[in-house]
Amino acid sequence: MKITICFASLPPEPWVQAVQQALPQAQVYPWTPGAPQADHAIVWAPPQQFIDEQSGLQTLFNIGAGVDALLQLRLPASLKVVRLDDAGMSVQMAEYVCHAVIRHFREFDAYDVDTQAGKWSYRKPRSRAECAVGVMGLGVLGERVAKALQVFEFPVNGYSRSAKDLPGIRCFSGPEGLPQFLAATRVLVNLMPLTHETENMLNRHSLGQLQSGGYLINVARGKHLIEEDLIELIDSGHLAGATLDVFRTEPLPAEHPFWQHPQITVTPHTSARTLREESIAQIVGKILALQRGEAINGVVDPQRGY
Ligand code: NAP
Ligand code: GLV
Repeated sequence: MKITICFASLPPEPWVQAVQQALPQAQVYPWTPGAPQADHAIVWAPPQQFIDEQSGLQTLFNIGAGVDALLQLRLPASLKVVRLDDAGMSVQMAEYVCHAVIRHFREFDAYDVDTQAGKWSYRKPRSRAECAVGVMGLGVLGERVAKALQVFEFPVNGYSRSAKDLPGIRCFSGPEGLPQFLAATRVLVNLMPLTHETENMLNRHSLGQLQSGGYLINVARGKHLIEEDLIELIDSGHLAGATLDVFRTEPLPAEHPFWQHPQITVTPHTSARTLREESIAQIVGKILALQRGEAINGVVDPQRGY
């Protein structure tokens, strides 16, 4: 069995060594143009040339949860695309989102300003019951985040493509459920995949339906959000602010207004990082399962786009 590794922007060597160690019977090598045909590939944002040359591949293992960049390429219909299925990301995402929600809810930024000025101040506690958090996308990451928020006793709403029934979470689904979901939500967390249906879904119209004083946490993809609409809604006072981990252009350009906006917190696409050991264990487990003829999870449906 041959496995090749092709990453757009990180060195493949540590992955080559670790996969080789986990699968001594395989031949594992980094892809360079003209490399031998492999059976499986482990990739992040490979070039079209890689796909065109590696026409004998059975499986493409993406080292992230989101496959939007991969699905932009011309892929053979027979090629199985497999995404990371948690692999240590859901706990990181739960930490990040709970931190952002609590920081906003408890007004810790305002306390920081006061304490840095040597001021001992109190703010009126906010009502938890009036701070419903809505999680858009109830997949591997969204469900974990929704459950983590329940620990802090926030009312939690969930939104997905297909209907769901999750204990203690008010679930909405489909385009018909969206207005009700937004109207019931003050803090919106985006954890949907980027597809032709979800691109630009966070815009003036949808964010305008959040409860007044609303707050956005975008941890999915930058192209979900019309960035100017967010700034307009914050500056008009309808939204209180946003925590953003993903952007239409990454790295976020130096002149982008998000950097300086006092009500926007920016982080550099770091809410849930790919963990090498966990990811390799998952991918190797799936390669062995495929060899035994077993079904695996995390297989992407190209029609749905996730
Ligand atoms: P997942 O398990 O595939 O879950 C996707 C969820 O979104 C599902 O609940 C799905 O609904 C829902 N959804 C899809 N299309 C929808 C639509 N048109 N309307 C409403 N809901 C829709 O994905 P995941 O593993 O949780 O990851 C989610 C995304 O997080 C990834 O695609 C990636 O973009 C992003 N991500 C970001 C980072 C970061 O560091 N910032 C890290 C990892 C992942 P159904 O349940 O009905 O299918
Ligand atoms: C990161 O953004 C991922 O999709 O895993």
